[in-house]
Amino acid sequence: MRAVDLIERKRDGHELTTEEIHFFVEGYAEDHIPDYQAAAWAMAILLRGMTVRETIDLTMAMVASGETLSLRRLGPVVVDKHSTGGVGDKTTLIVGPLVAEAGLPVAKMSGRGLGYSGGTLDKLEAIPGFRVDLSPQAFFDTVSQHGLAVVSQTADLAPADGKFYALRDVTGTVPSLPLIASSIMSKKIAGGADAIVLDVKVGRGAFMETVPEARELAQRMIDIGHGVERRVTAVLANMNQPLGLAIGNSLEVIEAIETLRGTGPRDLREHCLALAVEMLLLGQKASTPEEAYEQLDEILETGRALDRFRRWVAAQGGDPDIVDDVTRLPEAPVQHTVAAPRSGHIARLDARMCGLTAVTLGAGRETKNASIDPGVGLVLHAKVGDHVREGDPLLTIHARNQQEAQAAARRLLEAYAWSETAVQPEPPVYEILREDA
Ligand code: URA
Repeated sequence: MRAVDLIERKRDGHELTTEEIHFFVEGYAEDHIPDYQAAAWAMAILLRGMTVRETIDLTMAMVASGETLSLRRLGPVVVDKHSTGGVGDKTTLIVGPLVAEAGLPVAKMSGRGLGYSGGTLDKLEAIPGFRVDLSPQAFFDTVSQHGLAVVSQTADLAPADGKFYALRDVTGTVPSLPLIASSIMSKKIAGGADAIVLDVKVGRGAFMETVPEARELAQRMIDIGHGVERRVTAVLANMNQPLGLAIGNSLEVIEAIETLRGTGPRDLREHCLALAVEMLLLGQKASTPEEAYEQLDEILETGRALDRFRRWVAAQGGDPDIVDDVTRLPEAPVQHTVAAPRSGHIARLDARMCGLTAVTLGAGRETKNASIDPGVGLVLHAKVGDHVREGDPLLTIHARNQQEAQAAARRLLEAYAWSETAVQPEPPVYEILREDA
């Protein structure tokens, strides 16, 4: 078999066999196939697409390129959650303790920020002492004892995906449905998940800008799951405006604590509950969405989820006292409140611009190895649908200095569109796709 023949076959619109796909992925992972051929193959896939069967084969070939984690001892069904990435997305910090408290173990591998979208690991590392680099044994022990652990993805799981992803990033081949679907699913399957809740973000601050596109991606991941006996549910969630009010690492930890305490923003609470409900259903901890919701609502209301968060933070080396004293978290030296430039209803608040500005302030990385500043970011005081009067506080920028705060303020004002008349905000969740629906 020759790599060039497989590139040509895909270029000409043919369906590749299981053997051909495994040959290519293995060859690339083991450096027998060079980057230029892999890039040509990825471009042929982007232009020609893949059938469901080919996408399943691609996923499993990437799983086979490395180790797979067995979490079977944790419980009968291991449920994972994956977000396709967004702005202000601190859901793991809330959903993790929430479902762990409902009796579903959470053994999660997360990522760092990518572009304008934040990463769970960066948020957790804002907590003084918190360690995300646990050994496999410590990871397993922490989940066994505390019901929950979140660590960084090891390079040993689906290494072919890591190599492919880096190549796609610089060859214009990221936005391909089969490539995205197999990339995400290979990591989840290698990570030991039996069932997966996908948080597919849709809108200005997401990969998929429209609901039909997101639905197609979600359906392909459900099909992959179905093909390899993993149950998958997809929650299509609004990412036109940021999720919640806080963007930036320390600030998002604070908002997660507030949400666990019952005083967080409504959209964030609803979004987290929607994901947690689906996790309990897949994990067989509830038989109907209503039953799951009731259980989770009670866990939040009674403060049990917050207690679980505290114990989890301590178990991973973090300072649990941040829960009662958030001033123990890193704080930016400058806090600059921006006043509303006019009266009106907020009609649009561009999530991508908010995310990009947070990166410029230092909350994310502009280059691959740049360090981040955990204290910086922004806190919105109003969102789409809210009415504000000229001069009211619109948002507060947390910056390293006045100059950066002023520059961010000028940029952020561009993220808003205004309306004279009332605006109905979109729901945090558009729709839920279940395998058996
Ligand atoms: N996230 C992934 O893990 N892979 C992709 O290809 C896109 C988003």
